[in-house]
Amino acid sequence: MSLLEVKNLEAGYGDVQVLWDVSISVKRGEIACIVGSNGAGKTTLLRTISGLVQPKGGSISFDGEDIGGKTPDHVLGRGIAHVPEGRRLFKGLSVRDNLMLGAYLRSDQDGIAKDLEHVMDVFPILRERQHQDASTLSGGEQQMCAIGRGILSRPALLMIDELSLGLAPRLVDRLGEALIEINKAGLTILLVEQDVMTAFEIATEAFVIETGRTTMSGTTADLGDDPKIREAYMGL
Ligand SMILES: Nc1ncnc2c1ncn2[C@@H]1O[C@H](COP(=O)(O)OP(=O)(O)OP(=O)(O)O)[C@@H](O)[C@H]1O
Ligand SMILES: [Mg+2]
Repeated sequence: MSLLEVKNLEAGYGDVQVLWDVSISVKRGEIACIVGSNGAGKTTLLRTISGLVQPKGGSISFDGEDIGGKTPDHVLGRGIAHVPEGRRLFKGLSVRDNLMLGAYLRSDQDGIAKDLEHVMDVFPILRERQHQDASTLSGGEQQMCAIGRGILSRPALLMIDELSLGLAPRLVDRLGEALIEINKAGLTILLVEQDVMTAFEIATEAFVIETGRTTMSGTTADLGDDPKIREAYMGL
């Protein structure tokens, strides 16, 4: 059974409709990705799943519960963490405090301390920099901190919007390896990525969104061999 099931979703901003007919399904334990051009609606889809944008039609079910239109706190509490496009760390707060913000709905202090240690094991640079202002981190370190903050909410599903944006290829590889490690430890991951090659290296399932509609889906192995995908998204 799917952990996340989005069916025929419609959403937008005011009178502007952005998502027309989006359906995706993410199974427990997998890494899935959403790819598509600029302005296709990928960020809007994640924001609608998170409760930041209200759906106008269709349904979103998570772990058997209909979460469409629920508040962001409710969705986070049910187990969906969202690492936003652009990372959005809090300037003026330390790296550690930014990480701890992810745990604000939790009260299991022992579990939080354990998860903080786990994040710092996966990203040792965050341990070194934990008392620095988060705004002093490099772009890649900020992405690690934003992912760590997501993990601190102890989610069942971690959604990451634009993992590789602005980062050097070697760092993206390193982050990809970290995500695969985190996934093996039991976390389901949904990636949004403009760099299709990178996305297909990390994820096993993929959905293509074009102007607010899901137009293709399948395994990344199959879609990576598809001539249309190779031409339109991989420049091959
Ligand atoms: N707050 C907003 N108000 C009005 N329109 C918006 C808003 N945010 C996004 N849009 C519009 O919705 C459409 C989809 O945007 P969205 O950010 O979801 O695309 P995207 O697939 O994430 O693009 P990118 O790859 O550039 O991040 C765009 O046409 C954009 O201009
Ligand atoms: Mg986007």
